[in-house]
Amino acid sequence: MDWVKIFSTKGQMEEALAINKPRLLIVGSRRICLLRTEDGVAAVSDSCTHNGESLSKGSLNYLGEIICPWHGHRFNVRTGRESGERSADLTVFPLKTEGDGIFIGL
Ligand code: FES
Repeated sequence: MDWVKIFSTKGQMEEALAINKPRLLIVGSRRICLLRTEDGVAAVSDSCTHNGESLSKGSLNYLGEIICPWHGHRFNVRTGRESGERSADLTVFPLKTEGDGIFIGL
């Protein structure tokens, strides 16, 4: 697994990521939906497994699920699982904080 630095500090991350506002992150050729909730930060693949809509255009609900803006499928951002098992799981990317930044594992 390759670890890629995405933020230099926690403060930079918090400034860039408003709570409950998903954001598109492009790393190389990958499109990743990055989000921050009251429980922390998570990263999942940006492409909805139902029909490919960009999940970073979606919203988060009180259960910590990202809701696809096209047909409303809901994915748990920690497990990637779709709530109604209507579509395949999303890829979930690990995140870690180390001395000099916040990293995503690809
Ligand atoms: S494309 Fe996401 S629910 Fe259909």
